[in-house]
Amino acid sequence: MKALVLAGGTGSRLKPFTHTGAKQLLPIANRPVLFYALDSLAAAGIREVGVVVGAYGRDVRELVGDGADFGLRITYLRQSRPLGIAHAVRIAHDFLGDEDFLLYLGDNYLQQGLTGLVRRSAADPAAARLLLTPVEDPSAFGVAEVDAEGNVLRVEEKPDAPRSTLALIGVYAFSPAVHEAVRAITPSARGELEITHAVQWMVDQGLRVRAETTIGPWRDTGSPEDMLEVNRHVLDRMEGRIEGKVDARSALVGRVRVAEGAVVRGSRIVGPVIIGAGAVVSNSRVGPYTSIGEDCRVEDSAVEYSVLLRGAQVEGASRIEASLIGRGAVVAPAPRLPQAHRLVIGDHSKVYLTP
Ligand code: TTP
Repeated sequence: MKALVLAGGTGSRLKPFTHTGAKQLLPIANRPVLFYALDSLAAAGIREVGVVVGAYGRDVRELVGDGADFGLRITYLRQSRPLGIAHAVRIAHDFLGDEDFLLYLGDNYLQQGLTGLVRRSAADPAAARLLLTPVEDPSAFGVAEVDAEGNVLRVEEKPDAPRSTLALIGVYAFSPAVHEAVRAITPSARGELEITHAVQWMVDQGLRVRAETTIGPWRDTGSPEDMLEVNRHVLDRMEGRIEGKVDARSALVGRVRVAEGAVVRGSRIVGPVIIGAGAVVSNSRVGPYTSIGEDCRVEDSAVEYSVLLRGAQVEGASRIEASLIGRGAVVAPAPRLPQAHRLVIGDHSKVYLTP
């Protein structure tokens, strides 16, 4: 069985990060979220993976390479514009051939493995097999109506009046019947070829579409809040390990990972926390649930439940909480209390001033 992993898209909910990079490369516990998907596919015995890329295809290729590090053979498929998930399946037809395959949205984090899904797809053939999870606000998702035997009766994209609480997550097993489905549908009101419409087309043709409910957490890392939550979840399962330098004036509590080449001085680190290679943390309090990326600097600050991307600097910040701080960004006190604020801020940034 092959897999198709989607790493294109617009990522409008993750602006301004997606102005400068792919959202699938944003770090969760200092690893791109896409890596977790690739690990999981490899663990399920999949070897051939097509990765659909868009504007940041070059960055994805540079980091992921030919897939050998994951035990995979990766072929890159360029999507000229993000015209929808079903569009990505259309352009991948030649790569996929007429075999069953898994479709995995590259910004989704799924704790459960995929071995069961792969096994059931082989043992109990269906045109499509959907992974579903109960959510509080189904109208924000693709929603499936399922009968008592697990057959999908209907799927709807972001319905105003959802017929169930079961949302489609970003993992599907498809038979080659999906290729006819993605050719048969037309763009939705938002101008995309929707995978939910392709699935509904299969249901309408009387094809067998099966549903499975996820076990364990699932999240799409499409927004900053979701990223922080997935980061918390992954850190919660991480083992502590100290490979960098921690001085005698520092205290580490709970599970803390300090990568080789990282330095912690005069600081209190309350796990779970990961500190990346080349990062320096001094006279600060960090954690819990915080990832400090490679080459970051945190000085005279307190940082909790946050993610700092590579090279970010935080200095003299008495308390940073629930924050996502971009690559090379600088957070520092103004030289004195300003009478006016002078700001240099990128498009779509959010800055909150205290009165
Ligand atoms: P979405 O999160 O649904 O779409 P998006 O990336 O455009 O983000 P936003 O809604 O914030 O604007 O996409 C799900 C996944 O599929 C994500 O990893 C991006 C990928 N994708 C593609 O590769 N090609 C596409 O045409 C689309 C729509 C998404």
